[in-house]
This record gives sequence, C-alpha cells and structure tokens, in this order.
Amino acid sequence: MADTKPIAVLGLCGSLRKASFNRGALRAAIELAPPGMTITDGEIGDLALYNEDVREQGYPAAVARLRDQIGAADAILFVTPEYNYSIPGVLKNAIDWASRPPGPPIGGKPCAIMGASPGVIGTARAQYHLRQCCVFLDMKVLNKPEVMIGQAASRFDADVNLTDETTREFVGDLLVALADLTRRFAA
Ligand SMILES: Cc1cc2nc3c(=O)[nH]c(=O)nc-3n(C[C@H](O)[C@H](O)[C@H](O)COP(=O)(O)O)c2cc1C
Repeated sequence: MADTKPIAVLGLCGSLRKASFNRGALRAAIELAPPGMTITDGEIGDLALYNEDVREQGYPAAVARLRDQIGAADAILFVTPEYNYSIPGVLKNAIDWASRPPGPPIGGKPCAIMGASPGVIGTARAQYHLRQCCVFLDMKVLNKPEVMIGQAASRFDADVNLTDETTREFVGDLLVALADLTRRFAA
C-alpha cells in the first residue's frame, strides 16, 4: 500500500457503558488519527451471544453488518477494559462471530490494542489475553508502543474526554505505528 493510500480502521470497544473510559479513549483515537487514517467506531453491543446453531442458519443482521465492516477495514483498533484479568465477554463475543467462515473477515488483519482502567495496571492483563486470541486469528498485532492507560480517572475529564497530554501522545504514536504496520502488510 503506498504511503498516501487512505487507511480505514474499525475501532472495537469492549465497554458498553455511557461514561466508559475506553469509549473515551476510542474517541480520542478518532481525533488523533494521523493524516490518511480514518477510524470508525464499530457497534458490538447489539450482537446476540454466539451460537453455532444460529450461525449454521445464517448470520443475524447485526453480525453480518459487523462482519462486513471488519472485512472492509484495513486494520482493527481494539480498545478494551480489563474484566477479571481478561477481556469483556462483549468483545470476545464480537471476535468469535468475526472469526468464523467464510473468510473469516478478522483473520490476518493488522491490529493495535489499547485500554484504560481506573487501577494502575491499565488493562495489561486483558491486553495480553487479547494478543493470545490474535495468534489463533493470525492477526498482525502491533507490538509497540503499548498503550495501557492506568489511573484513568486522572487522565479523563468529567465528560470522559482524554485530557492527559502524555497519554494523547502515546495514542497518537500508536496510530502512526499502526498505519506503518498496515501499509507494510498491504504492500
Ligand atoms: C466485571 C468486571 C470485572 C472487572 N475486572 C477488573 C480487572 O480484572 N482489572 C481491572 O483493572 N479492573 C477491573 N474492573 C474495573 C474496570 O477496569 C472499570 O470498571 C473500568 O472503568 C471499565 O472500563 P470502562 O470505563 O471503559 O467501562 C472490572 C469491572 C467489571 C465490571
């Protein structure tokens, strides 16, 4: 992919709550996307729980929409909370639906991971679980920079905008690196 070719990134956020730090982090990424990159917020909250019997009858409309969005994206940006040292079920459910044939649409895609939590670890454990899922999916996961936003309450304002300048720089750096990774794999 030439350096000037636009990159379409689909953001998948593992939190459904309105005042989510992770949704705020995804909004910041959308603002901070480097020239040529567009990030869209993908909806995963309306997916049924994965059921192989249902899949065999044909993908439900919301799942088909997500699969199409993932298939059309050049890269995926996962923005995940940490739930019980892993990724939330809502995100795993979306990945499971996107991991099935034909395709699967998520297989082999370049991706980057970031996450925010009120604690000091900043979703590190969840991120490494997610990386493990990405191995099976043969996804091309950006290794560095890692963006683990700890003590989130001090980095977002009351409207859950990411205001901490250092963290915004990390997010910007991650997106530049994701653009580079995506272009290298598309070349
Ligand atoms: C079911 C559940 C499990 C959680 N487990 C963890 C955890 O393992 N590690 C952690 O740092 N925070 C954990 N938390 C706290 C979340 O980090 C916190 O609720 C965070 O704000 C969720 O992300 P959000 O703001 O994007 O919704 C958990 C929260 C819930 C609801």
